[in-house]
Amino acid sequence: MTILLLGSGGREHAFAWKMIQSPLCDTLYVAPGNAGTASIATNVAISPTDFDAIKSLVLDKKIDMVVVGPEDPLVKGVFDFFKNDDQLAHIPVIGPSKIGAQLEGSKEFAKEFLVKHNIPTAAYDSFTAETVEEGCAFLSTLKPPFVLKADGLAAGKGVLIIQDLAEAQEELRNMLVGQKFGAASSKVVIEEFLDGIELSCFVLTDGKSYKILPTAKDYKRIGEGDTGLNTGGMGAVSPVPYVDAVLMEKIETRIVKPTIEGFQKDGIEYKGFVFIGLINVNNEPIVIEYNVRMGDPETEVVIPRLKTDLVELFLAVSNEKLDQISLEVDERSATTVMLVSGGYPEDFEKGKVMTGFDTITDSIVFHAGTKLEGNDVVTNGGRVMAITSYGATFPEALAKSYKNIEKIHFDKMNFRKDIGNDLL
Ligand code: AMP
Ligand code: GLY
Repeated sequence: MTILLLGSGGREHAFAWKMIQSPLCDTLYVAPGNAGTASIATNVAISPTDFDAIKSLVLDKKIDMVVVGPEDPLVKGVFDFFKNDDQLAHIPVIGPSKIGAQLEGSKEFAKEFLVKHNIPTAAYDSFTAETVEEGCAFLSTLKPPFVLKADGLAAGKGVLIIQDLAEAQEELRNMLVGQKFGAASSKVVIEEFLDGIELSCFVLTDGKSYKILPTAKDYKRIGEGDTGLNTGGMGAVSPVPYVDAVLMEKIETRIVKPTIEGFQKDGIEYKGFVFIGLINVNNEPIVIEYNVRMGDPETEVVIPRLKTDLVELFLAVSNEKLDQISLEVDERSATTVMLVSGGYPEDFEKGKVMTGFDTITDSIVFHAGTKLEGNDVVTNGGRVMAITSYGATFPEALAKSYKNIEKIHFDKMNFRKDIGNDLL
């Protein structure tokens, strides 16, 4: 098969790394990819949201399947674009339909879906500029901290958690009237604060049956001890030691099953990943968000633990035969540590020459924000490279990642030295 993968992060390098191991994958294109995907596949300089350019490429290269990494093209409807085009309709796209992608594209849509299908989630109400004063009054009926969520995609920045009532009311006005997050905050969901431990559940579905993938925890803050600004993710560990069989059973029966059944009841076509963000409150898992893609950097630890052929899984997803495949998972732990540009997640410089990563043999180097410049690999983003290792235990895996990071150099390189410490 000839496959096209959309995206350019560490998640996409991990997908590419796994897909080219499949005997079913003859040729892999990545649009736009990074220096890592360029070393194992063919990069094409096309944006994942430029559907017309994607169509030309798919017809030109006789692509047999499209795998979508990030949420943007899904929310913009790449699945429907293929389905509604006579020349493309027969080509499977791995990812949900446009309406399914609204689970990530609109917080209000997600909340309505959760409530309708009796899936546990925080109590909420939603407001617009017209109802901003009602929103302020609603806030005064809640206990702090206050959780304000921009309805639309806001590059991971659209959620505010605020202690002070007056400040929360001011931020609500900023979001709704002041357009703090542009059109994304023309509607705001106000939600009950949940106090507990966060965890994520990753599911692959063909819309009828599903496979629950290995658990993973990411580290979102830039600073050690989970301090400082939010990032896309600074590292990850799989499996998550505190997720036991009892909790997993609750997650499956109360959340995963009703979610997939909800797709069927609502006629939502969904052939792809569902990434469910949960908070575990006194051993009761409660949904805080859906994402319609895999997590990054969670993919860099989940995919290396999959023994099953990923292309075979994607084919089964497109043929609605996922129930006929058994998922095999590596018993070992996998950990990843993200190397980032100095200054990230605020301003940072790009174009720093990277050395040493190509001497590493006992970790997997997944590129994120990198590109080729002549013969050099240079930095090209905030999150630059994820160093993934296996171990009998996660501390053993982490020790390997940290040892290998010492070999890697680029100007102003930064990374968290405490990944996994909270799990010890
Ligand atoms: P979201 O984009 O919905 O995942 O929210 C971003 C982050 O805000 C989450 O990872 C949580 O840390 C936090 N968060 C979101 N919703 C809640 C909630 N209802 N209670 C407590 N924390 C929350
Ligand atoms: N690591 C969190 C995310 O991908 O959204």
